[in-house]
Amino acid sequence: MLTIENLYVSINGTPLLEGINLSIGDGETVILFGPNGSGKTTLLYTIMGIGGYEVTEGRILFNDEDITHIPAYERSRKGIGMSMQRPPSIHGLKTRGLVEMCAGKRTVDVEALAKKVNLESFLDRDINLGFSGGEIKRSEILQLMAQRPKLLLFDEPESGVDVENMALVGNMARELLEGPSEPDAQHTLHDLMHERKTSGLIITHTGHILDYITADRGHVLYSGHLCCADNPKRILDHLKKYGYKECIRCLS
Ligand SMILES: Nc1ncnc2c1ncn2[C@@H]1O[C@H](COP(=O)(O)OP(=O)(O)OP(=O)(O)O)[C@@H](O)[C@H]1O
Ligand SMILES: [Mg+2]
Repeated sequence: MLTIENLYVSINGTPLLEGINLSIGDGETVILFGPNGSGKTTLLYTIMGIGGYEVTEGRILFNDEDITHIPAYERSRKGIGMSMQRPPSIHGLKTRGLVEMCAGKRTVDVEALAKKVNLESFLDRDINLGFSGGEIKRSEILQLMAQRPKLLLFDEPESGVDVENMALVGNMARELLEGPSEPDAQHTLHDLMHERKTSGLIITHTGHILDYITADRGHVLYSGHLCCADNPKRILDHLKKYGYKECIRCLS
């Protein structure tokens, strides 16, 4: 579904990503680790086409189509969706309006979706304005639930989320990736029987999300370079024991 070939990315002439190669197949979920400032958000923004990053070399393919230079809204319409690390607040845009926009031409029951992430009373508030850290993460999930992208990009979905809400965020992330486990108002039995091919790229520092979703492999992004391909839980254990510097030394 996603192929990144020899991708170099800069901002204001400063290189941030250098020679990234990454493939994510239909239905695959990949976890991305990396220390602060290593370029993880930059990579997700570049895939989504936002943030003013300059691709100086390489290309990004989505279902075999080169999307390297198309605008973000076209990538979104093609089926790429992102939960941001720090999404902006937008004065004058109600949460309800944004959720409806995310659904595009499909009709969605906004109230029912909001109920799933305990945000019913937030629908008539300006998006993210005054939301707590955990409420912002749930609002990002709500927008993705309306959009139902084929490729989900999650930038630290668990940061700032308390233990109880972590279960909610984790279960909703699983539902987005794997489909609901039982039919409900939005998903008929036909939907469930139809094989899901949703793919994911998830940035995590803590690995809490791994308690809720099945990930196929993990990678480490270090100083703009992507290295290591291993079981994500194994990578996390190594990182906790040895830290990033030792992890990279071993891998190199
Ligand atoms: N617009 C910009 N101008 C200058 N530097 C930038 C810009 N955007 C990102 N950077 C720098 O690029 C580097 C990578 O940033 P990025 O946000 O991708 O890191 P990250 O791996 O997501 O880190 P974290 O784990 O802290 O979220 C950082 O040093 C950051 O300051
Ligand atoms: Mg980041």
